[in-house]
Amino acid sequence: MLILRSEVDGTRVRAIDELVARGARGPSGRPVIFIDDPALAEIVLHGPTFDRGRLARSFCGNGLLFSDGDHWRERRRIVQPAFPPRDPDQHLQDVNWAMPGLIRRFEAAARAGSTLGVVEETVRFTTRVLYRGVFGQELPEDHDRVEVILDYFDSIGGILSATIFPALKLDGRSMTEVRGKAAAMDVEVDRLIDVRRAGKTNPDDVRTDALGRIIDEVGKAGNQAGVREEVRSLLVAGAETTSNTLGFLLLMLATRPDARDRLERELDAAPGGSPPFLDAVIFETLRLFPAVWFQTRESTTPIELGNHQLEKDDLVFVSTALIHRRPDIWADPDSFRPERFLPGSEDPQRSRHRYAFFPFGGGRHLCLGRHLALHELRLAVRGIFERFRVEVVDEIPLVAELGVVLKPDRRIRVRVTEREKASI
Ligand code: HEM
Repeated sequence: MLILRSEVDGTRVRAIDELVARGARGPSGRPVIFIDDPALAEIVLHGPTFDRGRLARSFCGNGLLFSDGDHWRERRRIVQPAFPPRDPDQHLQDVNWAMPGLIRRFEAAARAGSTLGVVEETVRFTTRVLYRGVFGQELPEDHDRVEVILDYFDSIGGILSATIFPALKLDGRSMTEVRGKAAAMDVEVDRLIDVRRAGKTNPDDVRTDALGRIIDEVGKAGNQAGVREEVRSLLVAGAETTSNTLGFLLLMLATRPDARDRLERELDAAPGGSPPFLDAVIFETLRLFPAVWFQTRESTTPIELGNHQLEKDDLVFVSTALIHRRPDIWADPDSFRPERFLPGSEDPQRSRHRYAFFPFGGGRHLCLGRHLALHELRLAVRGIFERFRVEVVDEIPLVAELGVVLKPDRRIRVRVTEREKASI
């Protein structure tokens, strides 16, 4: 497997600091500039003199998540109506549809006394939501698409990181292996497109899911490559980001009984509700483990940015993971303290800069799927913790994989038991 592994010390993913210290080089051959200042992050994400550049595109194609300029604008025009900003509940029914499957898998594991792979289960769930809500297709609850998707992500993540951080060792280096994973992914992408095309029986049907719109608009001039790159881009954007957040959240609560007990108490006191502590746990996980741990941009012109003098094509990392842990913004930054996100919290981060906490990015590339992601997280956390207790099986150190996204190590397994409800 082609991935970068990194020890997690408490909650801190150590390799991120090491990467900054060791230095990294962009496609121009010049050092990468790491931005850990919220004010500079705002300039980069909003400024007209930065765009997504060549790096991510060279690995993942020119889909919505990796493109910029007129090409990106046109694709965003096509896809955005499938994520209507004024109807954030649009995808709630897709999440509600997938929830019983997730709960049944936990139920079966609890009954059998067996363990569950955190990453596999969370990806299985988010893939089902994504396929239904974004690609217009329903997968069975025990579907087998997880491996092909995870393998593909691991491959591109590993290559991307190894390109930028040559000092880091890879867990294997075979380009043949990567090509094999990419080819397997292409088969899955083509299958998705074929099934969706076949689903349109009446030529006057108006398709409102993202894939339907992409096929109708991007594919109309026979641009099959364009349709493919959008599907790949939406898979990368939507499957692993939410699943990894959910995975880290399960692990945090499995190792922090005080936070878990409080969540259980508040859920028991308001069955089916959304107590503020639920969101606080989600936001604190997004702070410590932002799935999109950096956002890359390249300068389109020489420019001064804080103390840095940038040349054209210099690579900038807006380092969400570093900004989210700045000690001058966040008290006790490496601790998992959901309380800091509760209404009325005295935490100094209350008066923080808008780019002190920005797990979903900002500026023109603000995450399109953020409402969908929050629905998934809220319903899954509520559904799981209302009924089950989740414990880490082995005393192995928590490890994160650093790729395009930050994710828990695939080897981590949890034991699930039915829990007793607090008497109210
Ligand atoms: C916890 C889950 C998620 C996180 C943390 C997250 C984070 C982000 C971030 C930081 C960006 C900005 C990237 C940049 O500036 O280059 C982004 C963009 C994007 N996200 Fe998400 N995302 C999540 C879930 C989703 C989901 C479920 C979807 C649904 C498909 C989605 C679709 C997108 C798309 C299409 C973009 C590109 C927007 C553009 O450039 O116009 N995301 N996401």
